[in-house]
Amino acid sequence: MAEALRVENLVVRFQTQLGQVDALNGVSLVQEEGQVYCLVGESGSGKSTLALSIMGLLPHNASIERGAIYFDGVNLLGSGPEHMRNLRGKDIAMVFQDAQSALNPVQLVGDQLEEVILEHTNISARVANKMSQDMLRETGLADPRRIMGQYPFQLSGGMCQRVMMAIGLVLEPRLLIADEPTSGLDVTLQAEILDLLRKLCREQHASILLITHDMAVVASMAQQVGVLYAGSMIETAEVVPTFRRPQHPYTWSLIKSRPRLDEPDKRLQALPGAPPDMMNLPGECAFLPRCQKAMSQCRISPRPPLSELEPGHHVACYNPVVPQD
Ligand SMILES: Nc1ncnc2c1ncn2[C@@H]1O[C@H](COP(=O)(O)OP(=O)(O)O)[C@@H](O)[C@H]1O
Ligand SMILES: [Mg+2]
Repeated sequence: MAEALRVENLVVRFQTQLGQVDALNGVSLVQEEGQVYCLVGESGSGKSTLALSIMGLLPHNASIERGAIYFDGVNLLGSGPEHMRNLRGKDIAMVFQDAQSALNPVQLVGDQLEEVILEHTNISARVANKMSQDMLRETGLADPRRIMGQYPFQLSGGMCQRVMMAIGLVLEPRLLIADEPTSGLDVTLQAEILDLLRKLCREQHASILLITHDMAVVASMAQQVGVLYAGSMIETAEVVPTFRRPQHPYTWSLIKSRPRLDEPDKRLQALPGAPPDMMNLPGECAFLPRCQKAMSQCRISPRPPLSELEPGHHVACYNPVVPQD
């Protein structure tokens, strides 16, 4: 299978008045073409920073210290702003968490959709209008012509999310990055949006980098999975082994803390403690203070590297959980 995306050893920092935030500390991932790659992690673990790095949309106080991001064999970090502008919205598109604020509040929905088409293609305005309507209809919006003439604030949150997806998918990008596209939506709507994402990507043969902190979303969507903790990838796998046999104690507790439909009475086991301060990361494993499997070696050793424990399954831990079959 061909690669859709390869991130190698990415190091990203933010400068703030309070000090330096070590947001990504050598993150690598390989996404196969046509797959849904779920990037999981608690709030603040660096998920959006990774997405924005790929899009070339990091804020000005961010700096990429090291690493490479390959798309189509080209390192995007060395390819220049012109190359990124051409890719963005066309070959790589992004759907943001908060659709309502990601859309332009003073531009009609139809103009925002048509603009993406006109900017990247030689398609006429008339055809762009038709394509926009068709795409809105594809995302399940019943009256596209009316919606084209409205502003984002006139639409519900769920409708805005669909508009964002229409904008993201109208030029049939090969990679769609969806950053927590369903958080804040109710469960039914969440399921509909995920179905839509699945359907459109199947029809368009796109790859999806799906960012979430919700293990239930991972379970229903992912073909590959990467778990971020404090700006480091701590487990990557084909989803079946990670789900059935997670080996990092953090992934293990994420899965255990997930509500289960078959055991509604069982109390949620929240993970005790908090993630580390990203301005003050320890030299040793960042998960150590919360880890139930920590040994003396973990306290005296540098941060454990990702290593392959079984084919296609990488874990960064000195004392991984032994799966029980
Ligand atoms: N613009 C910014 N300036 C300074 N720090 C930031 C900025 N954006 C994110 N961060 C910090 O970088 C870390 C990773 O954030 P983020 O990538 O947004 O995490 P996630 O998407 O997983 O919640 C956090 O510690 C966050 O506070
Ligand atoms: Mg985020």
